[in-house]
Amino acid sequence: MLGIFARTMAKDIWHKAKPCGHLVKPVAPTHIPGRYLSHQEGLPNLPVPPLQQTCERYLAALDPIVDKKELAHTQQLLAEFQRSGGVGERLQKALESRAHKTENWLSDWWLNTAYLDYRMPVAIHSSPGVVLPRLEFSDRQGQLRFAAKLIAGVLDFKTMIDNETLPVEYLGGKPLCMNQYYQVLSSCRIPGLKRDTVVNYSRSSSPPTHITVVHNCQFFVLDVYNSDGTPLTVDQLYMQLEKIWNSSLQNNEDPVGILTSNHRNTWGKAYNNLTKDKTNKGSVQDIQRSIFTVCLDAPMPHVSEELYHSQAAVQMLHGGGSHLNSSNRWFDKTLQFIIGEDGSCGVIYEHAPAEGPPIVSLIDHVVAYTKKPEIAGSPVVPFLPTPRKLHFNITPEIQKDIEDAKRNMNIMVQDVDVKVIVFSHFGKNVPKTHKMSPDAFIQMGLQLAYYRMYQRCCATYESASLRMFKLGRTDTIRSSSVDSANFVKCMDDPAKQSTEKVALLEKAVKAHRAYTDMAISGQAIDRHLLGLKLQAIEDLTSLPEVFTDTSYTVANHYKLSTSQVPAKTDCVMCFGPVVPDGYGVCYNPMAEHINFAVSAFNSCNETNTARLAQTLEGALLDMRSLLESTPKARL
Ligand code: COA
Repeated sequence: MLGIFARTMAKDIWHKAKPCGHLVKPVAPTHIPGRYLSHQEGLPNLPVPPLQQTCERYLAALDPIVDKKELAHTQQLLAEFQRSGGVGERLQKALESRAHKTENWLSDWWLNTAYLDYRMPVAIHSSPGVVLPRLEFSDRQGQLRFAAKLIAGVLDFKTMIDNETLPVEYLGGKPLCMNQYYQVLSSCRIPGLKRDTVVNYSRSSSPPTHITVVHNCQFFVLDVYNSDGTPLTVDQLYMQLEKIWNSSLQNNEDPVGILTSNHRNTWGKAYNNLTKDKTNKGSVQDIQRSIFTVCLDAPMPHVSEELYHSQAAVQMLHGGGSHLNSSNRWFDKTLQFIIGEDGSCGVIYEHAPAEGPPIVSLIDHVVAYTKKPEIAGSPVVPFLPTPRKLHFNITPEIQKDIEDAKRNMNIMVQDVDVKVIVFSHFGKNVPKTHKMSPDAFIQMGLQLAYYRMYQRCCATYESASLRMFKLGRTDTIRSSSVDSANFVKCMDDPAKQSTEKVALLEKAVKAHRAYTDMAISGQAIDRHLLGLKLQAIEDLTSLPEVFTDTSYTVANHYKLSTSQVPAKTDCVMCFGPVVPDGYGVCYNPMAEHINFAVSAFNSCNETNTARLAQTLEGALLDMRSLLESTPKARL
């Protein structure tokens, strides 16, 4: 009976929410048990695209990035692969049968392949950071006051999750899967020797009521609910944070947190060793079970105003090294909010449970919450027990693991370079004026910048949301296409007319937007190819050659790994490159400016973040000039 009621209520909310072409967040009422499940049940299942369609689109995607001989070879392989009664058909049938039997044929495979089986350190290689606007304080009081407000803001967001009143989001008029929101609080990744796991404690018989706070590399359990179930007030939180600060004045000599930054197999081994001890095991579990972690950081090294955002980006990505804040983290924790004494502020999140947009949506809520005028607190703040410090017994073996982890982290810190730029000349407004998709316009800017630097096109990854489907995560928009290649090759050719350049730009932008629509509706090629490959690994003795030839390797070597993570807050997400000789590029397009974070490895001679950022800026400006100087001459 209650279930039917909840479903009816839920339907009403859908009708009140007016779907339109972009992401919409309707206003939510108060408490609707069962709403989440009824919403999820209404979502479609992820389709398995037709085999022939994927093979054709795969060949088209290879065209700008592999040579003619290799392309012809792959064409032959694909013809054989998809022939009637061939291997492809067999694998396709098996995939379709998997799709019938599961809620989402891809989600478990993807979680394992993209995250839990990935053995590189999560720091830099997997976990994105978010740089938030600098705050106006430069002392401990300001730091703790802001931290208290931030914690209250996250708990406010959590109430919407607990009450199932989180507004449903829409993309292209369709409701999105909300599952990721239910995975980000009270969860943690746990290392294994070969594969990690990710555990969510929010649905356990006794869901956690504490967060963890780390200061000077020492962890504390902070209960954030009063005995009557109400969240602590900002004043109460401030008092508790002050107690934590005062009891961790010295830096911890044996910072266990740094262990979480290591290669996953190494950390898996060290984890088994660390948790043999009962006290250590209890302390680790307290961190894992906590709702989220707050890192009270030491100030970053001082840099000029111009370099501030880039400096803050690395602070969020890795903490600056073992001598700075890298040990003031538990990198396995899904959500860590970082607040520096110098007003720096941001987030690092472990990627396995969620993509950037839900994280950023939570951040938008929290940032708005922290800006609300404070309600005058009650003059008498009830007594609260001192937050509990987590203890670790450090054996010589653990000490060695810590030293090794510090060394490895410091090598990684030296190697990664992040450049954050605010492209202030225009934002989404200019492409919109020219009736172009802003995202596609930016992606074409990136294609042009890369071509200008390297005189060739490269495999380019842009994340596309699959959240229109139950438990959907992402697929790939391949931004390098025949059309983008035609545009970038023509753009700097003095023999070409501007009218032709404009026509090619328009065509490339349209093609990119069409690929986006195809991807978000579950018809892109990459997850399908991955599914066929994983099915082959399960079913066959050897891999079909389409998955071992040079084209496949080139197609999956993303020298440009990009993602749009839009936010209301004037912030930017950042992540490391996915290949040693590539770039990571994340951007937040605002109405009148665009925030970019570009990353690369210093050990690679070919890459240079400052140069790419500058070339990108030039490319976007040239594209605008082209459109503005040839308005009427379009073909
Ligand atoms: N003329 C005028 N306006 C246009 C237009 C055109 N031809 N095409 C699009 N627009 C408008 C849209 O209506 C939208 O308006 P809004 O600012 O009012 O919302 C705006 O321009 C943005 O649209 P567009 O730039 O085309 O991109 P998008 O918002 O549809 O986003 C993706 C595209 C690929 C980023 C999105 O579909 C997606 O999948 N996001 C998730 C990515 C992700 O998961 N990243 C994280 C990985 S960790």
